[in-house]
Amino acid sequence: MPRVLLVVCGGIAAYKAVEVLRGLQRAQCDVRVLCTRDALEFVGAATWEGLVHHRVSTSLYEDAHSTIPHIELATWAEAVLVVPATANILAKMACGLVDDLASTALLAVPKTTPVVVAPAMNTHMWLADATQRNVATIASRGVEFVLPVEGHLACNEVGTGKLAPVESIVECTLRALKGRTCQSLSGRHVLVTAGPTHEAIDPVRYLANASSGKMGYAIAREAALRGARVTLVSGPVSLSEPRGVQRVSVVSASQMRDAVMEAFPQCDVAICAAAVADYTPANPADHKLKKASEHMDCIRLVETTDILAALGAAKEEGGRRRVVVGFAAETNDLVVHAQDKLARKGCDLVVANDVSRQDSGFGTDTNRVTLVAPNGVDELPTLSKDEVAERILDRVEELLAKAEGGMR
Ligand code: PMT
Repeated sequence: MPRVLLVVCGGIAAYKAVEVLRGLQRAQCDVRVLCTRDALEFVGAATWEGLVHHRVSTSLYEDAHSTIPHIELATWAEAVLVVPATANILAKMACGLVDDLASTALLAVPKTTPVVVAPAMNTHMWLADATQRNVATIASRGVEFVLPVEGHLACNEVGTGKLAPVESIVECTLRALKGRTCQSLSGRHVLVTAGPTHEAIDPVRYLANASSGKMGYAIAREAALRGARVTLVSGPVSLSEPRGVQRVSVVSASQMRDAVMEAFPQCDVAICAAAVADYTPANPADHKLKKASEHMDCIRLVETTDILAALGAAKEEGGRRRVVVGFAAETNDLVVHAQDKLARKGCDLVVANDVSRQDSGFGTDTNRVTLVAPNGVDELPTLSKDEVAERILDRVEELLAKAEGGMR
């Protein structure tokens, strides 16, 4: 049974942590509960103990069964979930402050154990600079957030701060656990590209597109959860790199090409989800162009290197058969365009991405894709980008097995 440590903090949403616990138990998880003292003001120990048939842990000193409860709990868990995460626990996590069992156990969680945090609080507290900075700090360490949603809050205000839906929290924890238990890409090196590129016109202006990086980051996260070593070559985005992923930050298409070509020889798989500029200004100015005196009505463009096509051409170099996956962002004739890219760019799989829909493509949390391979087409329904990443990596695993069969 997968082991989850549920850390419950003192907020009104603590009662929803009970539903989260039940959801995890329905999914066959073995859950232990650690409550802060304040959390027990909202939901008492009797409720937790009745549900987990285990003593609820609250203190560094009062547990007769364990001499070092924070270490025992932190190392017992295969995943740790904090719900509701208050502004207080976020502040403690961000700066490593330990003054009770919850904060001490959280600091003692090994780096390889996934941690999922679901905050809930008053909207001003959530939006406060201090809280947002703490969230960014914690996320930069690879901790997964199930962000609060907008709604009517207990304090009678309407705004962001309401605990995310219980199903999303359970789903995120199960996904994190799956990575711990299913290491199907262990020993593999996966290269992922994500985000846009910025092509300089002058020092302050550039050509770009609306890619947020969400799709590529979801793929990198899923590959890392499956045990792969992951190199994520990312254009400028506001996302934190997923836990266990090595990010190489680039700005322009030529920088992305250099970073990708350097990493590719050591890789088993390359997945190109970045929206790379096809053209870049031929002669970017070295000073800010003046509106009145310099012509802005004509910027001469030159083609960038097609990175994906270069990978497709190099995939068998060094006696190794790599799997290359491209994307095709299309507004019409999805499959026809994707089949063309599959052949022209030497890919093993092309993810045809419908970017004409509101629930799909650039910046969205969901995506509508069709997986196009030489032997067939698999149209998927609208799914979260995390689910799309899972489906792509399932196919990648099949392709890896097939490629290795063919090399023998
Ligand atoms: O980042 P999000 O907001 O989550 O949005 C996700 C996405 C829509 C950006 C993503 O799902 C997607 O479709 N990525 C590919 C976007 C794109 O540039 O498509 P394309 O059809 O123009 O390019 C085809 C393929 O060639 C892509 O794999 C692209 O990475 C690659 N390419 C393109 C140009 C170039 N110079 N080098 C490349 O490698």
